[in-house]
Amino acid sequence: MPNYEYLKEIEEYGRKNKIPILLDESLEYIEIILKEKKPKRILEIGTAIGFSALCFSKYLAEGGRIDTIEIESLRVEQAEANIEKVGVQDKIRVMEGDALDILPYLNEKYDIVFIDAAKGKYNEFFEHAIRLTKSGSIIIADNVLYKGYVLSDYNKHKQRTAVNKLRSFIDMVLNHPDLDARLVEIGDGLIVAEVK
Ligand SMILES: C[S@@+](CC[C@H](N)C(=O)[O-])C[C@H]1O[C@@H](n2cnc3c(N)ncnc32)[C@H](O)[C@@H]1O
Repeated sequence: MPNYEYLKEIEEYGRKNKIPILLDESLEYIEIILKEKKPKRILEIGTAIGFSALCFSKYLAEGGRIDTIEIESLRVEQAEANIEKVGVQDKIRVMEGDALDILPYLNEKYDIVFIDAAKGKYNEFFEHAIRLTKSGSIIIADNVLYKGYVLSDYNKHKQRTAVNKLRSFIDMVLNHPDLDARLVEIGDGLIVAEVK
């Protein structure tokens, strides 16, 4: 039996150690989608210490599974330890590496794809997300407003490239002919796109 009581401790560890785990209000919004959808298959890009994947695993349909990708080996280790602690090893598989190297090898169709990794690569992640989903699937991307920079006239320093990339990403998704997409201005900004 999973022991979700550990989630609080994992969340506290993440916040204390400045690991960028999902904000509470974004999590609540996504949980509403998951509760309704009861997904069988979820793909996550950006595991960190496994917090969001563990939260999502509560809403999987019977026999459902999550594949989650993380580039940093220390975080993969921490995520695997947390998954074991909660007791959901049969529900979550962590894949170690750059998502752009791993995604081309995935071929199944997911009900939910959650993009939560390198902001500069969202366009590339999204192309894979489209390929790996089907009609009715939902693609969610977090941090698309990048602390508010994306909707402001902010245009300086080292974040400029990431901000411009996110702006063109949002534009592409909201105008994509195969998606019903919306920009949700909560937390750090979510894109929620349903495949038509
Ligand atoms: C925002 S955190 C993920 C938080 C996690 N989804 C949660 O809410 O608990 C982003 C993670 O993506 C990882 N990452 C960044 N670029 C990546 C890439 N190209 N492929 C896989 N993981 C990547 C980072 O190491 C980091 O741990």
